Amino acid sequence: MSTIRVAVDGPSGAGKSTLARAAASALGFLYVDTGAIYRTVGLSVRDRGADPGDEPAVADILPSLRVELRYDEAGRQRMLLNGRDVSEEIRLPEISRYASAVSALPVVRAYLMETQRELARRNNVIMDGRDIGTVVLPDAEVKVYLTASAQVRAERRCRELEERGTPQPFEEVLRDIEDRDYRDTHREAAPLRQAEDAVPLDTSALDFQQSLEALLRLVRERMAGL
Ligand code: DC
Repeated sequence: MSTIRVAVDGPSGAGKSTLARAAASALGFLYVDTGAIYRTVGLSVRDRGADPGDEPAVADILPSLRVELRYDEAGRQRMLLNGRDVSEEIRLPEISRYASAVSALPVVRAYLMETQRELARRNNVIMDGRDIGTVVLPDAEVKVYLTASAQVRAERRCRELEERGTPQPFEEVLRDIEDRDYRDTHREAAPLRQAEDAVPLDTSALDFQQSLEALLRLVRERMAGL
């Protein structure tokens, strides 16, 4: 029997990971945070002191990387880089910038493609990212495009950073989000865009519970029609 694949794409800070994780848990699906995979590559490029925009330099690093996904007892995704758990480190704002830069490189996208597809062949998945519905899983049974205004996303990110003990001024966070939106939507390789058959879900005016219900409703409606 083939697996059920739910693709959740959208800009950073739209609540994709929190929502997709909760929805996966409610449905008994595997949650795959693909941004964490790009972040792990970004971290390794930073650690090697390489320029994340230098494609040949990054291509040289890739073969020596072992990027693995693990799930802890609580079902949370952990990222291992050459055996080292980097799940917390990859969340630093500096690594967001490295991740955004390396994710624009075709060599990096090609390198990570099979890892992502393999996970979706073996499991029912909710996979979140930027190009899941458009490139990685173009035949996904359910595609959702999750958005919220830049202002609302910056407010949410600020709260998250504060809870992690790494607070940042609002203006900086907003500028970071706007810069990343621009880079993610204007890059040549797999730019962020809504797949034609994706259902848009704007969570600007919704709280977490309302957003989760809307997402679950979408998935269940689609599954009922399969
Ligand atoms: O979702 P995030 O902020 O953790 O993603 C980190 C970076 O990786 C972000 O700049 C966009 C990029 N990314 C991507 O290009 N494709 C994906 N499928 C997921 C993330």
